[in-house]
Amino acid sequence: MPDPTKKTYLIIGASRGIGLELTSQLLDKNQFVIATERVSWPEDTSPGLFSLSTTHKNSGNVRILNCDVSKEESVTDFVQSVESLLVEGLIDVAIFNAGILEYPARVSDFSRYAFSHHLQINALGPLQAASLLLANPLLTLRTLVFVSSDSGSASQFLSHEDGFAAYSMSKVALNQGLRHLSYELVRKYENEKSKCPVVLAIHPGEVKTDMASSVNLVWEVPGQISVGESVEGVLRVVEEKGWSREVNGNGGATFWDWNGDRHPW
Ligand SMILES: NC(=O)c1ccc[n+]([C@@H]2O[C@H](COP(=O)([O-])OP(=O)(O)OC[C@H]3O[C@@H](n4cnc5c(N)ncnc54)[C@H](OP(=O)(O)O)[C@@H]3O)[C@@H](O)[C@H]2O)c1
Repeated sequence: MPDPTKKTYLIIGASRGIGLELTSQLLDKNQFVIATERVSWPEDTSPGLFSLSTTHKNSGNVRILNCDVSKEESVTDFVQSVESLLVEGLIDVAIFNAGILEYPARVSDFSRYAFSHHLQINALGPLQAASLLLANPLLTLRTLVFVSSDSGSASQFLSHEDGFAAYSMSKVALNQGLRHLSYELVRKYENEKSKCPVVLAIHPGEVKTDMASSVNLVWEVPGQISVGESVEGVLRVVEEKGWSREVNGNGGATFWDWNGDRHPW
């Protein structure tokens, strides 16, 4: 008899930071987790993930796959591996978390490489992965969660974020891409609305991870939170706003803060 409280989560970008903590908290809750790292396992290049998969009390619930979202072929191979891992093909929640911030990257000091690299990893990679997972006839996705950023809000522009141009543009592109995706899904599932996946974008807060500590900002970042606090909030938002039998993805994508407040696009 399947356990109704046990869901399948897919986390892309789980080697460090928010992705690793998502994996850890979900294992604490005895959920089934497919976690990805960019480089090959089992060479032990992601010690945190390796440790969860060997020493956590629910380590039997985690599978580690390889996915580099900047490489089209890696994403294609990864989707095939997911398909072969799941007997019934159901992914309750797919979290597209992988991201980079290479600071500074300004328009006035333009580097085509820096801008396209951010776009590749923060926007095109997650959208391609989502597209391939959704198109796979052996897989069913219910909630798609994209870890976005307040820097990716077009209407609430953060003018003080000097050096964030490439990062911000890539997150704006991600956000706009997944708004399109959600309405493409609404049209696709017009005649079977109860199956339409939910699309969420989430700003995880200002989180103390490698991403935050690798940049020396000239402005004050108020309200920094721990990765544990951020992930507790993110998982609460996913639980409350994600797919359910009553409220499925019949509307467009929505953008949330980690604390449950609606974020403006
Ligand atoms: N920290 C914050 O304050 C903050 C604020 C707003 C939004 N975010 C967003 O939150 C997400 C996670 O950030 P974080 O703070 O946890 O950063 P992090 O500690 O730097 O972790 C980034 C993760 O993304 C993975 N990644 C990078 N490039 C990848 C690629 N090409 N393919 C697959 N995975 C790749 C990394 O893998 P490797 O270990 O292999 O490099 C790592 O697992 C990002 O999307 C970020 O934009 C963070």
